[in-house]
This record gives sequence, structure tokens and C-alpha cells, in this order.
Amino acid sequence: MSTELFNNGHHVCISFSDLVDDSGSEAVQSNQFLIVTDGHGALIDPGGNMTYNALMMGMGKYFHFKDLEYIFASHQDPDIVASINKWMIGTDCKVIAPGIWERFLPHFCSVGKTEGRIIGIPDEGMNIMLGNTPIKALPAHFLHSEGNFQFYDVTSKILFSGDLGASLVPHEEAAKPVTDFKKHLPTMEGFHKRYMNGNKACRFWANMVRDLDIEAIVPQHGKPYIGKKMVNEFIDWIENLECGLDLFTQDNYRVPK
Ligand SMILES: [Fe+2]
Ligand SMILES: [Fe+2]
Repeated sequence: MSTELFNNGHHVCISFSDLVDDSGSEAVQSNQFLIVTDGHGALIDPGGNMTYNALMMGMGKYFHFKDLEYIFASHQDPDIVASINKWMIGTDCKVIAPGIWERFLPHFCSVGKTEGRIIGIPDEGMNIMLGNTPIKALPAHFLHSEGNFQFYDVTSKILFSGDLGASLVPHEEAAKPVTDFKKHLPTMEGFHKRYMNGNKACRFWANMVRDLDIEAIVPQHGKPYIGKKMVNEFIDWIENLECGLDLFTQDNYRVPK
């Protein structure tokens, strides 16, 4: 199923939330995103091998996959970009990914297929033009990957937040926006405490995004946060969360008996 997150007639943002079959609980549910603006198309975090065919078919309603210009990858994980070899072979797209992972991504690909096609985002982030539309790659380092970016679409005011804000819910639930933040917490708290690296990064991130006009935060797993009230509830929560190294002690580093 695809969901239109935004559509003003020229610029469309689509979410795909049920392309991973998580019913056997072997693979985590994940969302893939397509932005099409005046005939220019980009995928955000297109996923691994199990989403490639379904995504290629699903995006056909909005955009012919062969014309794909960019893949934006928030970080290097398999559920983010393990499919890039197929996209590299099937299209002429370029991959825009964190600079510190630029030389690691070719390991997903056939030899020679990535030559001149992976663009590394510098640690400070960058503005990317998709047609005439700017997309900002925002630094979100250590949330969770060491080199990690989120993609802020200036036109729709949607922040595609990668693993930050992720919740672990069945795929049938993933497209439905969060309506009650407190009730939503149990689906995300454990994930953030273990996968995010520490409160210092959370605070820096919260300070940065408070300067942005954000209408929705849409993570790569689980439910989106739509509207300023929900966006701000999320920012306030993550700003104060102790996670990762904040919670680790010597007990987590013991030789197994
Ligand atoms: Fe990840
Ligand atoms: Fe993920």
C-alpha cells in the first residue's frame, strides 16, 4: 500500500509501508519513500532485496522507475540500501549517502557498478537539488549511525528521519499516524534506548530541528508524526531521553561464562 504524504500537483511525497512481509517476524517492518517533483524522482531509504521488486512496481503509478535520478540513503544499514546493486543495474541513478560510508557501500554492489555514482554527504550536511526543489541533508550523526543524515523536503516540510522516531508495529499499522504520544511510547522506547547512541546527540539534534518549519516527521520504521503538536511532542521526548552509552555500564562488557 502506498500513502500520499503530500501532493500539490507538482510535488508528491509517497510512503510505502507494507512491502516487507513481516508476518513471519524475520524482517523488521520498514518504510520506503518516493519524492517526485515536476518529473524528477528520488527514493529515500529504498531498503533491501525484499523490497526492490515491489517498490519498482509500486512507484510506477507516480514515476517510471527507469528515470530515477537519486537514491538518498540516511545511513549504511541493510534495511536502508542493501538493494542498491539492483537500482544501479536497473537505472542510471546516483546514490547520495553519508561521506564516511561512501567507500563501504560498493560492497553491496557488483564491481564497477558504482563508479562515479555515489556522492558522499559531508559531515556538515548539504542542500540537494531535485529538479528545482531543494532537499536538505541534515546531520543526525549517532542517531543511530556514526555518519547519519535525515532528509528535509523544503516544499512539503516533511522531515524523513531515518531510524530516529522509529516504532516497531505490524505493517498494517505503520501508515496510520501517531494520535496519542503516550500510548505510542511502548512501541518506540526500547528501540531508541538501544539503537540511539546517547543523549548528547539527541539534544544537539533537538536544538537543530527546532529552527525548522516541520509539518511531519516520518521515520523509516513504523508510524509517522503528523502536525506540529505531534512533531513537538517527539522532539521534547527525544531531547530528554537517556539512551545508548548513557545506559551502558561495566555489566554490559563481561566475558560470557
Ligand atoms: Fe539503521
Ligand atoms: Fe532502520
